[in-house]
Amino acid sequence: MDDNALTPEQQARMESIADDFARQVGRVGVDMQAAREWLHDDEPPVRPHATWIGDELFMTAYGFDVPALADALRELPDGAGTDAFVAAYNARHDSQKPTVDVLPQGPSCDAVESFLIDATMQPDAALDEVLAANAAAGLPTIDVTPLQGKLLSILVTAVSARRVLEIGTLGGYSTIWMARALAAGGTIVTLEANPKHAAVARANFERAGVADRVDLRLGPALETLPRLAAENPRPFDFVFIDADKASNAQYLEWGIKLARPGAMIIVDNVVREGSVIDAQSTDASDLGVRRLFERIREDRRITATALQTVGAKGWDGFAICVVNGERR
Ligand SMILES: C[S@@+](CC[C@H](N)C(=O)[O-])C[C@H]1O[C@@H](n2cnc3c(N)ncnc32)[C@H](O)[C@@H]1O
Repeated sequence: MDDNALTPEQQARMESIADDFARQVGRVGVDMQAAREWLHDDEPPVRPHATWIGDELFMTAYGFDVPALADALRELPDGAGTDAFVAAYNARHDSQKPTVDVLPQGPSCDAVESFLIDATMQPDAALDEVLAANAAAGLPTIDVTPLQGKLLSILVTAVSARRVLEIGTLGGYSTIWMARALAAGGTIVTLEANPKHAAVARANFERAGVADRVDLRLGPALETLPRLAAENPRPFDFVFIDADKASNAQYLEWGIKLARPGAMIIVDNVVREGSVIDAQSTDASDLGVRRLFERIREDRRITATALQTVGAKGWDGFAICVVNGERR
């Protein structure tokens, strides 16, 4: 079957959309790739051409000044964007024919992120205030995203966690997501090395109404963790590791030591725009993540997987571990 051929259903839908288009000339989707392919056949598009992208139908050349369209496409340098095409077409088109003023791009990660936030999240003034306070204090915007914060809260809820350990507080955005999800009477211990970050986080905990549930410990985590262990604390149900990536393997070790069987351990930023697999990298964080995965590969005390993520904070991922052993 010709790749460009339409099923009867697609044809019917195309005609109905074409009718709609005819009523609002000047707004049309152009599938550049398809248009170029037609030109390679030395046959400028002379009839509506449709390409399905997901659920959307994009039309090429419907009702256009076809010779102008063809010229604009022919003269377009490789890699030119849609803006260049619009300018080229509009500069030469027959004024009796519609101008192109909208060229939809394909869906983007950012657009999907907005869609998912809209579909799954409610406005949350308290969390917005946390991010505003972090920005006002000049903290780096390296907190988890809202969708990821909600994921953490769902996981804390799913394991009915009363005891959460977080390594890497920053301004407390992720801490607050998890603190809100604690089972009744629960607490979260969060470790932060930077005094300024800790001060901003403490103010945020007060403002968000979770200060009574949060125990922030200031100092490098490799110093505060042994001190915490020396207190012989009740085992943790959930551990979130999100500090300096160079120490990830040591943090995983502490997490396993301090957690109960069945506890969940999440490690953030384990993909790092793909640099996790760059064997040439000498970056301390990349090396730290690779050591983490070496540990994960060998360590029979945990069962682990990892997920890649895309979205507002780029391409990254989580390692997700469960501590093996008999659950109480
Ligand atoms: C990615 S941010 C944490 C973001 C936070 N979990 C959130 O999503 O809102 C990492 C934090 O770890 C802190 N940090 C870096 N090295 C540390 C260390 N050795 N011990 C404790 N905290 C450290 C940094 O100061 C920073 O605030």
